[in-house]
Amino acid sequence: MEEIKILAIESSCDETAAAVVVNGRDVRSNIISSQINLHTLYGGVVPEIASRKHVENINYVIQEALDQASVSLDDLDAIAVTYGPGLVGALLVGVAEAKAIAYAKGLPLIGVHHIEGHISANYIENKDLEPPYICLVVSGGHSHLVKVTDYGEYEILGRTRDDAAGEAFDKVARAIGLGYPGGPKIDKVAKEGNPDAVDFPRASIADNQYDFSFSGLKSAVLNYLNQCEMKGITYNQADVAASFQKAVVDVLTDHAMMAIDESGMDKLAIAGGVASNSALRRSIQEACERKGISFYSPSPILCTDNAAMIGAAAYYEYQKGVRHGWDLNAIPNLKLGER
Ligand code: KG4
Ligand code: ZN
Repeated sequence: MEEIKILAIESSCDETAAAVVVNGRDVRSNIISSQINLHTLYGGVVPEIASRKHVENINYVIQEALDQASVSLDDLDAIAVTYGPGLVGALLVGVAEAKAIAYAKGLPLIGVHHIEGHISANYIENKDLEPPYICLVVSGGHSHLVKVTDYGEYEILGRTRDDAAGEAFDKVARAIGLGYPGGPKIDKVAKEGNPDAVDFPRASIADNQYDFSFSGLKSAVLNYLNQCEMKGITYNQADVAASFQKAVVDVLTDHAMMAIDESGMDKLAIAGGVASNSALRRSIQEACERKGISFYSPSPILCTDNAAMIGAAAYYEYQKGVRHGWDLNAIPNLKLGER
């Protein structure tokens, strides 16, 4: 089989990442330079700092990706880059870099949708996974329930009406004094807590059963903390973390299984930073086992932002003949399914 080698670049938020991926599923290198420690000082991602750090790091990250894969720019077949959604200044660094390399080397340029990348992370370790399947995409900026009808073809069944799941984790973590980044910290602390200690609400949306809403849950947690303070009671941090996490996990599991039931599909995948949550992975896996359907998930390191997933998505775009011009621009609010 012919080998299509793609250098993929990702810089949409606070990770500068580059990877070399062969035929969409064979990851030869996956370099991630995280800025998390820097942004922790400010309690969240500072866009201006993110852009400047990407500019400083990107050439080293790309060189490292090429070195680890033992390839040079001359061995590549295409350059892929995330062009949206994300922070505009952060995206522009990757887009400008990808265009420069592609232009200098006469290589095709492929712009990739960040969420399409998250979904495609599933192809890397699950060599047998092929569309169609249902995918639950839960990250810091997005919560989508989609039907993947073909490579790069999506039907959106539901989305969040307000906060993304990861955003809710980050906000609740801050409120209970865990700090940034909230998701992994809640995941850890929740292991020591009782998930049934506090009965937080599970929101449902009347006009679309697949849509999510997490802002009500976040408010319920804040109210609970206020009430404890007013009554002079010290709340149990691990119990609040575990109960909040259970409320999110229950809703995500419920919606995903509803989509499986109604679509008649027998494959469910999860993707995005929140998909690395241990309770969510367990809950969805158990629900899939009960139904006798296949469950797919990327390893935690491929759930959070990385460039290998961009290389996986780009390969299928490449095969379809998708090529972007030198006018490729960063699109901060790019919608899934748009090109
Ligand atoms: O996919 P991602 O790396 O970036 C975006 O595209 O947004 O997702 C980051 C989000 C953050 O909100 C982070 O708190 C959340 O994913 N996250 C987690 C876990 N690890 C990361 N949420 C819950 N449990 C985790 N273990
Ligand atoms: Zn992401």
